[in-house]
Amino acid sequence: MGILIKNGEVVTASERFVADVRVDGGTITDLGSRLDARAGDETIDAAGHLVLPGFVDPHVHMELPFMGTVSADDFEVGGAAGAAGGTTCFIDFCMQGKGESLVTAVANWHAKSRKSAVDYTYHLGITDFGPDTPAQMREVVQTHGITSFKVFLAYKGALMVDDGQLYEVMKHAAALGAVVTVHAENGDAVWHLQRELLANGLTGPEYHPVSRPSPLEGEATERALMMARLHGTAAYIVHMTCKEAVHALERAKLSGQRCYGETCPQYLLLDDTVFDKPDFGGSAYVMSPPIRPGHVGHHESLWNGLSNRLLDTVGTDHCPFTHEQKLSGQGDFTRIPNGAAGIEERLALLYTHGVRAGRFDVSRMVELGSTAPARIFGLEKKGSIAVGKDADIVLFDPAGTRTISAKTNHSHADRSVFEGFEVNGRVARTIANGRTIWDGNALTTTRGAGRFVTRKPTHFAHHAGVKP
Ligand code: URP
Ligand code: ZN
Ligand code: ZN
Repeated sequence: MGILIKNGEVVTASERFVADVRVDGGTITDLGSRLDARAGDETIDAAGHLVLPGFVDPHVHMELPFMGTVSADDFEVGGAAGAAGGTTCFIDFCMQGKGESLVTAVANWHAKSRKSAVDYTYHLGITDFGPDTPAQMREVVQTHGITSFKVFLAYKGALMVDDGQLYEVMKHAAALGAVVTVHAENGDAVWHLQRELLANGLTGPEYHPVSRPSPLEGEATERALMMARLHGTAAYIVHMTCKEAVHALERAKLSGQRCYGETCPQYLLLDDTVFDKPDFGGSAYVMSPPIRPGHVGHHESLWNGLSNRLLDTVGTDHCPFTHEQKLSGQGDFTRIPNGAAGIEERLALLYTHGVRAGRFDVSRMVELGSTAPARIFGLEKKGSIAVGKDADIVLFDPAGTRTISAKTNHSHADRSVFEGFEVNGRVARTIANGRTIWDGNALTTTRGAGRFVTRKPTHFAHHAGVKP
């Protein structure tokens, strides 16, 4: 039994046209005009709706052990929150524990993720590069179908790698055809700034952004991209927040590097006045890199980067913590768990502040939120409405409106950094693998229905790197 979606306006990264779409057995089987339902098919009249490919979130952290606690959404809850917001596939970060093999990390992550209701894969976060790591990287790519890695240049003493480890990861990833994703901030300099602030009694959440100024993101972005250039590695800079980082990416792209940049709605739409909130309210906005000051060009750089194709994707960095969890940083902002929810809000925020605000068209929105993440990370069956692709589809009502609130969101987060935002557009239905999992009002997800998607490496170094 399939689903026939009639009369909707199909949007891909390159076109929009009115068509009927039929799905069956988890796959898009027909695309055309005046399609007839087959026996047992459910027929949906999507007139007036946009028919979008399910959104792919390239950056989330479900039940991540981090800063003495664990992020508040497990794979089931976080994936369901995504479904309500039009996301049908996400890429989590599978993190290597200290002294742990990468293969053990994968097994541990599989044990947590199999309850997801939507499809997913992982970037493999390397935190402890050792003599056995190159062989484990090979196994992860070639046996487990995980073709992207992650390094953190921040979080000194926890997740951070040094430049030697960065060098090695870039080198081995290039040989394997894998992408290296990078959290780019200079963690050593941040550590010194944090100590100076605390020593001066400056302990509140408003000092979190002061401890991580934008030049430190620009420097680390440049360094990561140069290291990638050395080896011919495909690099992807996650959650870019500032003009210095955008300029570093531009230089790398102009020099011919294969590299990619991601930003997130919170960096496009919020500024550092959020830290003025009383009663430790600023802690909800503590994330890294931090939300930047307005009126100094960061927001413009990011929006322009999205409009003119310098930046490639919009992810969310969904990593929620409850207010109670955030309270562990009272009296010391460096102990506030870093992160916030966002997986449910991305599509509506992009539609409202990107498309409706005239910054880009709806095809570019689809590219940023679905097609490009799928293409960059080798999710071959995701990211478009076409025969043979997975039946991951969003029916989007452009006339709908909504006010974002943690109370109506589906995350376990008890605060939304977008609380009170009025958004245009409503996800009227989310279909994942041919099944309706959000009907516009309620979730109809099935625990464990999501699949781990294996990928093939495609980013082999196209030159031998820059030899000394
Ligand atoms: O503050 C953040 N971004 N938390 C999640 C971990 C990371 O750095 O992506
Ligand atoms: Zn990060
Ligand atoms: Zn992250």
